[in-house]
Amino acid sequence: MSQAITFSEYGTPEVLRLSEVTPPEPGPGQVRIRVRAASVNPFDLKIRSGLMADAVPVRFPVVPGLDASGVVDAVGEGADAAVGDEVLGATVGGGYGEYALLERPVARPAALSWEVAASLVTVGATAFRVLGLLDPRAGDTLLVHGAGGSVGTVAVQLALARGVTVVGTAGEHDLERLTALGAVAVGYGEGWARRVRTAAPQGVDRVLDAAGAGVLADSVALTGDRAHVLTIADLSAARHGVRFSAGSTDDGTFLPQVVQVASEGGLTLPVWRTYPLDGAATAHADLEARRNRGKAVLLP
Ligand SMILES: NC(=O)c1ccc[n+]([C@@H]2O[C@H](COP(=O)([O-])OP(=O)(O)OC[C@H]3O[C@@H](n4cnc5c(N)ncnc54)[C@H](OP(=O)(O)O)[C@@H]3O)[C@@H](O)[C@H]2O)c1
Repeated sequence: MSQAITFSEYGTPEVLRLSEVTPPEPGPGQVRIRVRAASVNPFDLKIRSGLMADAVPVRFPVVPGLDASGVVDAVGEGADAAVGDEVLGATVGGGYGEYALLERPVARPAALSWEVAASLVTVGATAFRVLGLLDPRAGDTLLVHGAGGSVGTVAVQLALARGVTVVGTAGEHDLERLTALGAVAVGYGEGWARRVRTAAPQGVDRVLDAAGAGVLADSVALTGDRAHVLTIADLSAARHGVRFSAGSTDDGTFLPQVVQVASEGGLTLPVWRTYPLDGAATAHADLEARRNRGKAVLLP
């Protein structure tokens, strides 16, 4: 037996329990890892609370967690890794545990800590995917909502590397860090569109909404074209005629590319705090209260 965090009903962070579970067996193409780090994503909170109950039905008990890094200890038929390999990747059946299954594991570069490796999985692949969809070109201006967040932070850096001018909306506490990355930082909240117009008199060509804070209508007005606005977080996208890009459209090709960029020193992704496995409820409460300033990571 091994330990994992499970929940058997929707609710507040307190539904997360440290439980004894049977370590999962890897299926074809999968590996089992001894988890070194498992990152906490806003998605995990949405699943646990029941907010996504219709969109993403679950079978209780659930082990939360989309991302993990660790050492391979069992290999399924045809899997592209060997026992002892240090890897990261998207989990199958949850990541908040001593053991997790990964599909399409990616080798962990020595330059990436276990914490950053686990943190990059969903965040990095998402940023890479949505930039490909929006496809801003060198010289274009991209507005990123939620640029102080994890997906936003990676998207900003990938866009800057393409020669794109990036304007990012963020909280007061993130403006300096955003400016240091090379973006034009603008405070979020009431009046943001006016501030963006002032900061980008040349106009805005593309918008990535990585915050989901009701910014779509003004974003469409800014670009003048719904097709140039994309959200990963606002479920009212269809009402605005805006594309919603879901994680389920990730075919696994983005993570190796973003890991490559990160291993070459081309990305920073702040890890705010680490927690022991039984600190999962605290981690969820911290994210829910928006106390985090970067990734929250469990170290089982
Ligand atoms: N569809 C997909 O494939 C996909 C994949 C990954 C993530 N997501 C979703 O995308 C969102 C971001 O994920 P994440 O991991 O980057 O979360 P995160 O690290 O918590 O970042 C969210 C950021 O949005 C900021 N924010 C809050 N209100 C804002 C506003 N009005 N304007 C601009 N920024 C605002 C937050 O600032 P504070 O510091 O003030 O809280 C925070 O920095 C989440 O909703 C997540 O579920 C979707």
